[in-house]
This record gives sequence, structure tokens and C-alpha cells, in this order.
Amino acid sequence: MPSRSAIKGITSFVACLVIFLAPNLALADDIELPAPQTEGGAGLFDTLKKRSSVPHGGVSFAELSLQDLSTILWAASGLNRGQTGWTVPMADGLEPYVRIYVAGTDGTYRYSWLDNKLTEISKENVKGKLGSHGFVPKAPYVLIFTTDKEILAKLTRGGQKFQDEFANVLVGAMTQDVYLAAAALNLGTRYIHTMNKDAVVTALGLGPDDYPIALMPIGK
Ligand SMILES: Cc1cc2nc3c(=O)[nH]c(=O)nc-3n(C[C@H](O)[C@H](O)[C@H](O)COP(=O)(O)O)c2cc1C
Repeated sequence: MPSRSAIKGITSFVACLVIFLAPNLALADDIELPAPQTEGGAGLFDTLKKRSSVPHGGVSFAELSLQDLSTILWAASGLNRGQTGWTVPMADGLEPYVRIYVAGTDGTYRYSWLDNKLTEISKENVKGKLGSHGFVPKAPYVLIFTTDKEILAKLTRGGQKFQDEFANVLVGAMTQDVYLAAAALNLGTRYIHTMNKDAVVTALGLGPDDYPIALMPIGK
């Protein structure tokens, strides 16, 4: 049994440690997204007729609610049939091999389709670093689609060539779903290929084999 003075000493030490470390511990502000809208809404054919890109210049985006953001992300690669069925088709039935990052004003996040959550990867607003189109940082959120080579490596055929092709096909499906969900929710978006890839890799801390494929600024 430690003596009373030993316990007091340990307690003081722990208290000092907490006071010393607390300012240096920047706790991650992950975002639990509200449940996405998965029913009702505009009909498919009305939505197809509305699908379009916001104009290149002079766009002013208004804020986007977390509810709408959640619905957009779910449309892009959410689960729609238990734990192994998604809103977009996946080669070999793999889990999503394209990641979606979300650059916001208060930080940058990675979307987790499994638990409908945004995991903070930095507290930095990187929207202005992504590329040359001046309207991109004006959006409340910019979606960034990148490869996930960890998952792509599980493809059993075709090597590197198939990995790249399949990732591009998946980005096409995901971004079309974003366009359609945006049209149904009266939001504005645009597919953007032009970007500063090195800056995006750095901003997202991507591994050496991963690369960004597309951006989609999105807002009301
Ligand atoms: C593969 C691809 C690359 C694109 N790259 C850019 C781009 O770098 N910058 C941009 O402003 N728009 C880009 N766009 C958007 C197209 O310019 C836009 O979809 C086209 O003008 C047709 O307009 P709509 O989407 O309203 O039908 C791209 C679209 C696609 C499909």
C-alpha cells in the first residue's frame, strides 16, 4: 500500500503533466454527420433534366448544411444494402477504392462511408491551395476524390493499369451521383480536373502511391 505522501506526489505529478500537455494536445474535431436523406425527394427523371454544372466564373455559393453534405456524401459512396452494398458499383465487389476528402473552412476531413462520419485530418482551410480556379475556394465545401491504393491493391487482375482505370471509372460514378443529388437538393457543383496536384497531395497527406483525380466545390 503506497503511503499517503507517495499518493499525493503521484497525483501532483499527473496534474502537472496534464497542465503541461493540455495546450499541446490539439484534439481532433471529427464530425458525426446527421443521417443522410435516403428517401423521397425529387424524382429521377426530373433530376436528370436538372443536372448541370455551376458556371465557371462569378459563382457565389451559399452555406451548405451538414444534413445536405451528409446526403451528398452518401449519394457518392454510401452504403445502400447492408455492409457490402454501395450507391456506386465497385469492381470485384471491393469496398470503395476512391476516398473522398472534404475541405471546409474549419478544417479538412476524410469521409468514412462505414460510420457516416468526417474524420479530421487537419484544422487547416486548404480550399485556396487546391488549384487555379478562383471560384473553388468560395464554396463552403470542396470534395476531393483520390485513389485508395490500399484497397486497389486487392484487385486480383490487371495490375497497375486496371487500378488506375477502375479508380477513374469509380470517380465518374461518384461524381455523377453528386451531380444528381445536388440537382435534387437545389445545390450547385462542378466537376473540376484542373488542380495543383502536388499541393493537394501535401494538403491531404496522401501516401506516395495515391493521387487526386477530381474536385467538386459544392454549396447552396
Ligand atoms: C472529366 C471532366 C473534367 C472537367 N474538368 C473541368 C475543369 O478542370 N474545370 C472546370 O471548370 N470544369 C471542368 N469540367 C466541367 C465541364 O467543363 C462541364 O461539365 C461542361 O462544361 C458541361 O457543362 P454541364 O456539366 O453543365 O453539362 C470537367 C468535366 C469533366 C467531365
